[in-house]
Amino acid sequence: MGSRHIPVLVEEVIALLRCEPHQVYVDATLGGGGHALEILRRTAPDGIVIGMDWDEDALSEAREALKPFEHRTKIFRENFVNLPDILSLLKIDRVDGILFDVGLSSIQLDEGGRGFSLKSEGPLDMRMDQRAKVSAADLVNGLSEAELAETLYRYGEERWSRRIAKAIVEERRRDSIETTQALRRVVCQAIPRRFHFRRIDPATKTFQALRIRVNDELENLRQVLETGWRVLREGGRLCVISFHSLEDRIVKETFRRLAKESEKAGPNGGLRIVTKRPVVPSEEEQNRNPRCRSAKLRCAERV
Ligand SMILES: C[S@@+](CC[C@H](N)C(=O)[O-])C[C@H]1O[C@@H](n2cnc3c(N)ncnc32)[C@H](O)[C@@H]1O
Repeated sequence: MGSRHIPVLVEEVIALLRCEPHQVYVDATLGGGGHALEILRRTAPDGIVIGMDWDEDALSEAREALKPFEHRTKIFRENFVNLPDILSLLKIDRVDGILFDVGLSSIQLDEGGRGFSLKSEGPLDMRMDQRAKVSAADLVNGLSEAELAETLYRYGEERWSRRIAKAIVEERRRDSIETTQALRRVVCQAIPRRFHFRRIDPATKTFQALRIRVNDELENLRQVLETGWRVLREGGRLCVISFHSLEDRIVKETFRRLAKESEKAGPNGGLRIVTKRPVVPSEEEQNRNPRCRSAKLRCAERV
């Protein structure tokens, strides 16, 4: 098992969700259970957390971390887009707050065998949900050159997408690309040396793009933001922490559109944006946990 995940922007999330006893919260991305644990502490003695994650490794860490609060947690292995169905299964029609802390946890990133890490050798997997059918190796060895280039450009904003796609197709004619380091070598050779920067691995954007596509990350986020807020009670809040500009753009634009629509609709329910600008980690938190550097937190309230 990889290292423990350090939760980001914890105090900020707790304050925005206005955690109190008697309430029901959803942590839709449990990961190692860091945020859920803090919500349970702050909602003692009787607050409830409904936790979800689609990754079995994350769930076993979370179950362990939340053991002292077992009687106040309900945990599901699910894609968070199914949140409304889970709540109807539990016969809960409204909750007080929902947290989405999207992206990868350290539990996933640091475990070489999952194929997310640029730094360690491992199978080119990248599935967060181990039950999913398509891995990164399937995409790398199966997509056409044009589809590969499109994927790298769209989900990685990779300026060298066409060159990398061409190099991948040439390489796989010789031998299929099955490991993280095999892919990394191809990408590094495809990008001109003068565009290799010291602090950023040349394959970073390629890995990001494949991971997003394997897990359908942007579509899942878009879908759950569209429907998830409807399960909030009036005054209930939705917090989203994202880690790159493609995700943050979806959160910002969806919140804005929903808020505008509800202004037009009058006082009959909708969303109000709470954070005009995204909340970012303090310098102190960034020093303590460098992985939190790109985190952005946005919050909206059901009115
Ligand atoms: C950044 S981690 C969350 C860390 C957590 N807040 C903590 O404090 O430990 C993101 C988690 O969300 C999960 N995840 C991402 N997309 C998901 C989805 N569509 N459905 C369910 N879980 C998802 C990942 O498997 C990962 O464990």
